[in-house]
Amino acid sequence: MSYNLLKGKKGIIFGALDSNSIAWKTAERVHEEGGQFVLTNAPVAMRMGQINELAEKTGSQIIPADATSVEDLQNLVEKSMEILGGKIDFVLHSIGMSINVRKGKHYTDQNYEWTQKGTDVSAMSFHKVMQTLYKADAMNEWGSIVALSYMAAQRVFPDYNDMADNKAYLESIARSFGYFFGRDKKVRVNTISQSPTPTTAGSGVKGFDGFIAYADKMSPLGNATALDCANYTVSLFSDLTKRVTLQNLYNDGGFSNMGVSDAVMATFTGEE
Ligand SMILES: NC(=O)c1ccc[n+]([C@@H]2O[C@H](COP(=O)([O-])OP(=O)(O)OC[C@H]3O[C@@H](n4cnc5c(N)ncnc54)[C@H](O)[C@@H]3O)[C@@H](O)[C@H]2O)c1
Repeated sequence: MSYNLLKGKKGIIFGALDSNSIAWKTAERVHEEGGQFVLTNAPVAMRMGQINELAEKTGSQIIPADATSVEDLQNLVEKSMEILGGKIDFVLHSIGMSINVRKGKHYTDQNYEWTQKGTDVSAMSFHKVMQTLYKADAMNEWGSIVALSYMAAQRVFPDYNDMADNKAYLESIARSFGYFFGRDKKVRVNTISQSPTPTTAGSGVKGFDGFIAYADKMSPLGNATALDCANYTVSLFSDLTKRVTLQNLYNDGGFSNMGVSDAVMATFTGEE
């Protein structure tokens, strides 16, 4: 269903790798709602990805950019404005990666070069994206910037490893930069804290099958899907949420406010 919520709006969407990606679903929904955008991903990810298919389907162009490279980001912002014919209304940062997670390096035995790389890709890249947009004065007033987070920023999920710290940093950047972006350009900045979702990045976390099932049982509405996240993001890009800013917003079926659910209790008492 389309509500035409993003008619006439222009944006940049980072992080669509394949059709499971949250960014992929978001691009499809933004397109359905009338938004136009440039798709971007790391050059290395595009060689193995199917992003061309998405570009064709949504009538979008692709500009490769490594989100840790300010030079790449400057080129991306400049070219995007040329392609879209003006300033930007919305940006989705849907990027995350930890080499320690990928290589099974335990949190108590970090390879700090990997830790640093993960922080740069998963958190500092958000600062770099915003600083590039801010300096180029590339955002329209009442524009909206969203990044994706996870509740391990607030609570302990042992296998989430150094990504927990990266998400805490990401959420802090949203508040700190969001202040200046709001004050100076009337742009809002938020993070969405999403349920565990079966994507390439998500499934890479050790024990993922266990904690996606656990979260589902704990949440009164069940886990939020990638499509649910896409829909929430559309609302945050729309004019219906103009003064929502500096927030970390849970899209998690209620998980974050639960202590325990009947379904989880039943696994201990045997009363299913
Ligand atoms: N899947 C989950 O369980 C879950 C839950 C909460 C939050 N998130 C967050 O959602 C976001 C999107 O992840 P996803 O689950 O859709 O997985 P995904 O693997 O489909 O997307 C991650 C993207 O990051 C991109 N990326 C990695 N390094 C990059 C770089 N240097 N420059 C530019 N892009 C780079 C990848 O190419 C990929 O497209 C991430 O921030 C992730 O942490 C995921």
